[in-house]
Amino acid sequence: MGKDVIIACDFASAEETIRFLDKFNKIQDEIVSCDHISLSISRPYVKIGMELFYAEGPQIIKTLKARGHKVFLDLKLHDIPNTVKKSMMVLGAYGVDMVNVHAAGGIEMMKAAKEGLMLGAARLADKPKLIAVTQLTSTDEETMHKELLIDKPLAEVVRQYALNAKAAGLDGVVCSAHEAADIHKYCGDDFLTVTPGIRLAGDSAGDQRRVMTPAAAKEVGSDYIVVGRSITGEAKPTGAYTKCCEDFID
Ligand code: C5P
Repeated sequence: MGKDVIIACDFASAEETIRFLDKFNKIQDEIVSCDHISLSISRPYVKIGMELFYAEGPQIIKTLKARGHKVFLDLKLHDIPNTVKKSMMVLGAYGVDMVNVHAAGGIEMMKAAKEGLMLGAARLADKPKLIAVTQLTSTDEETMHKELLIDKPLAEVVRQYALNAKAAGLDGVVCSAHEAADIHKYCGDDFLTVTPGIRLAGDSAGDQRRVMTPAAAKEVGSDYIVVGRSITGEAKPTGAYTKCCEDFID
């Protein structure tokens, strides 16, 4: 299965996003040393979150797809099944490569999401992947116990949410890299683990509570790493991205 590094484009506008991604057009010059990396390195896989999508609307997806990027639309839907199904029909027609829901919405909601997404993407040759957020990587066990009143251990909750996502027919989950090995053990190697909370060695964790380096994420079997500030916050983001690819991709 192809591993990839997904850059979290948590920018406020399309203009800022394009300015950032323009830097990657010339990246090939900087990476002569890692020609084993098979992905089109000048057109990284990008994640569009709520901030940018709400600011720019669907046009941002069209723009990025037209520029040759794969797009993970990270809107984390969580509502009643009927609403999620109808919303997913809309998102499926955009031609995104990956989209997600909160597993906390339950199996019925996730099944409805999948149904809606496939209906929306019916005309597309490449079907989008649907994954479920288990627990946010900013949530730790103490928060879960004290604020959310979920008294089971975090690992057990994440595992159950992943099993629910699999039962609903989803392709995988968003989880911490700390849980990737356990999820593959219980849900199978072909069940995708998409892992944010990634930091290059020495970078600040910020608001993330459970972080890991790209090299360690590779060791534990993550399928995709989602990297935001360790790339976007760097003076030389192309260098940080290249380092992530070198450390994570075979
Ligand atoms: O800057 P940083 O690398 O922490 O960004 C992580 C990205 O992954 C953010 O866009 C955040 O919304 C997203 N994310 C996350 N934890 C999840 C799901 C998504 O951090 N469980």
